[in-house]
Amino acid sequence: MYKAPRGTADILPEEQGYWRYVEDRAIALCLLYGYQRLDTPAFEDVQLFTRSIGEGTDIVTKEMYTFEDRSGNLLALRPEGTAPVCRAYLEHGMDNLPQPVKLYYLAAIFRYERPQAGRYRQHYQFGFEAIGDADPALDAEIVEMAWRFFELLGLGRLYLYLNSIGCKSCRPEYLESLKRYYSAHLSGLCSDCKARFEKNPLRLLDCKKTACYDVAEAAPKSTDYLCRDCKSHFETVVEYLKALKLPFDINHRLVRGLDYYTKTVFEIQPLGDGAQSALGGGGRYDDLIEELGGKPVPAIGFAAGMERVVLNLKEQKIAVPALPAPPVFVAHLGNEAKLEAVKLTSILRKDDIAAITATGDRSLKGQLRQANSLGSNYVAIIGDDEVKSGAVTLRNMMTGEQKTVSRVELIKLLTRVTQE
Ligand code: HAM
Repeated sequence: MYKAPRGTADILPEEQGYWRYVEDRAIALCLLYGYQRLDTPAFEDVQLFTRSIGEGTDIVTKEMYTFEDRSGNLLALRPEGTAPVCRAYLEHGMDNLPQPVKLYYLAAIFRYERPQAGRYRQHYQFGFEAIGDADPALDAEIVEMAWRFFELLGLGRLYLYLNSIGCKSCRPEYLESLKRYYSAHLSGLCSDCKARFEKNPLRLLDCKKTACYDVAEAAPKSTDYLCRDCKSHFETVVEYLKALKLPFDINHRLVRGLDYYTKTVFEIQPLGDGAQSALGGGGRYDDLIEELGGKPVPAIGFAAGMERVVLNLKEQKIAVPALPAPPVFVAHLGNEAKLEAVKLTSILRKDDIAAITATGDRSLKGQLRQANSLGSNYVAIIGDDEVKSGAVTLRNMMTGEQKTVSRVELIKLLTRVTQE
């Protein structure tokens, strides 16, 4: 027996109500804020990701699904959505449009991670990006939009963390100071942190291991090293977020796992869980478009993990709208009746009444049992008499009541009850 690959999940029909609920709200949110949908391919040139996410990151060193296609092109299944959006922005000359260009996506993301609750090798992200404006008001809009998304879903007990990690002119001094500080604590750190010290010192700050936590807590803060521009940008973002009454906390340990960020970074986490379970995160990436071969274009964005959102909806017992009512079942007795049943089912569907015909050669009892297990509330029965008279017997499966009606009456009746 084949199984879905480790770290992937089938989203079964009974789960789809949650997914529809989240997707509908995501799309409504984007309409409200003026973001347009962009779909990009599931795989891209591997360089797009190594250059943007960063050579030293976990995603690039350990988690990317890379492969060579039959023409020898080196490709990767997308491990995140921002770089493909920037690639499309450049490829389609969107820098000639009025800026900022506001885009959103709902897309499958692939990362070879160690699977656990809320962590998959294929997951889905809802993300949005505003490209082409450095205004801190845009940072505030993106953070508000992310927060509003969770509000629209009815999720509570969430934290909003904010930080600024500076830009390429002020970050080197901060990194030096961070390394100086950490060099005195190296022996007590976990092995991952020892490697981070060399490869990606910023990531030392978000290690979840107890041994490393206290060291990270007392480490120098990036906000104390911001240049004038980054400092005033951060202060303005904070001022705007306060004016919008968003309940954020400044978290000096928030650094994010991708290298392209500059200035503002933020994350939304459920109460009581580690950063492992972040529902979403984002930030500014003012150098990325230039890095990918364009002119310097500032940008900011956010993405949420759909599986984690669904998990939290369930944990918080948030009721989602019921799935559409099960269809009307059309049962039949005999070959002639079967042909009539197929025709009737087709007519019902043309009239927007969801319907299915019984297939196979089950007895009427067997067909009723089948209708019952499908959850159909109504069964239309066609037997010899009905074939002759053109009428239909309608059985209400909830009450057991049966009556014979004309086809016109049947459609009227079913239209009324299925739209109730
Ligand atoms: P990220 O923090 O790597 O950011 O991923 C965004 C969200 O995707 C996470 O907060 C989490 O909810 C979900 N997620 C990540 N990995 C997994 C996984 N293995 N299984 C399940 N869910 C997962 C980004 O990818 C950036 N592109 C976000 C962004 C957009 N920044 C600017 N614009």
